[in-house]
Amino acid sequence: MYNFVFQNPVKLIMGKGMIAELSKEIPSDKRVMITFGGGSVKNNGVYDQVKEALKDYDTVEFWGIEPNPSIETLRKAIVLGKEKKVDFLLAVGGGSVVDGTKLIAAGLLYDGDAWDLVLAHEPILKTVPLATVLTLPATGSEMNNGAVISCRKTKEKYPFSAGYPVFSILDPEVTFTLPPHQIACGIADTFVHVMEQYMTTTSQSRLMDRWSEGILQTLVEIAPKIRQNQLDYQLMADFMLSATMALNGFISLGVSQDWATHMIGHELTALHGLSHGHTLAIVFPGTLRILRDFKGDKILQYGERVWNITSGSRDERIDAIILRTEEFFRSLGLTTRLNQERIGLDTIDEIERRFNIRNAAYGENSNVTGKMARTILESCL
Ligand code: NZQ
Ligand code: ZN
Repeated sequence: MYNFVFQNPVKLIMGKGMIAELSKEIPSDKRVMITFGGGSVKNNGVYDQVKEALKDYDTVEFWGIEPNPSIETLRKAIVLGKEKKVDFLLAVGGGSVVDGTKLIAAGLLYDGDAWDLVLAHEPILKTVPLATVLTLPATGSEMNNGAVISCRKTKEKYPFSAGYPVFSILDPEVTFTLPPHQIACGIADTFVHVMEQYMTTTSQSRLMDRWSEGILQTLVEIAPKIRQNQLDYQLMADFMLSATMALNGFISLGVSQDWATHMIGHELTALHGLSHGHTLAIVFPGTLRILRDFKGDKILQYGERVWNITSGSRDERIDAIILRTEEFFRSLGLTTRLNQERIGLDTIDEIERRFNIRNAAYGENSNVTGKMARTILESCL
């Protein structure tokens, strides 16, 4: 186990009816900007609950933060927030609304163009306080300091380190209206978040391994049940908490991480608009196929503990485990090959070019370069 310093300041407020707690958590003298996506919150009662809880507050609303939030939209929110002198932000939506609001929180205290903050690739220290009401379990953004922002004009998408929310409210009932594709993407995203922190080498930490495997086992158990009935509160509560726990720092204490699959996935979204979780379902099996010589021991441990795959030679077991993983993503209702999305060699060329320009070297061994990304993607055709 490596040395580490860990602090996660986010207050988690979870359960039925908990949106009403908003008025206990936000100081009454704050001028609050509430940020939303495209309108799903108007169809599932979330908007009404938020408005009721904040009826005595001075509020301004900003609508239209789109999936894979764009700098073009967020600039408008920053102008509005500055004009109205807001000093508290409440993001109500999925990861995109939360991420976008993290950039707004920084942009409100920055005089230049907020895209500079994304390109700087440095942690942002000065932010307006923000909180979240989460409507889509997937990204963990409700309990971490990451955000991923896109630029529509240049077709770029980059992660950056932002501020943590002060608190996040998670009511599993708000997930009942999620479209099946978003549930599939959310489960895939959660699964791969665990993998990016787990699928490296063995014997770094028994505890981190077992926490990770616990989340993976939970997802494997609940995924088919959710497909049958997404109105089951207990199932959705486990899904929601799994997603939060998968990317709030708890499973990466003192261990190495990978994140190459995510970096390749972001390029597929930037170039083709594919949903984030879907890109991971395509790329992650490819990462395992190509990096099996480096990750072999951990693949075997994962296969045994999560899928109960224990027989056959080392190579046969690894083959079976990778196939089983890809099958799991398919069982969610996602395609797992680039050609199924009509993505071909020209996109692979472009991703290799982009990785080369930035001297990319991702993964725990810093060996996922442009050339390696090409090999991984070619195995996903
Ligand atoms: O915009 P609305 O109308 O709200 O609809 C959204 C959107 O169309 C809809 N939706 C959300 N909650 C709903 C709902 N529909 C019905 N009922 C509900 N309860 O779902 C659609 C997708 O929402 P979005 O927020 O885009 O999805 P997600 O939460 O998966 O967020 C994806 C973004 O997060 C980034 C991704 O790259 C992507 O940009 N990520 C952020 C991370 C982080 N901050 O740590 C880590 C992740 O790896 C990821 O990269
Ligand atoms: Zn992700």
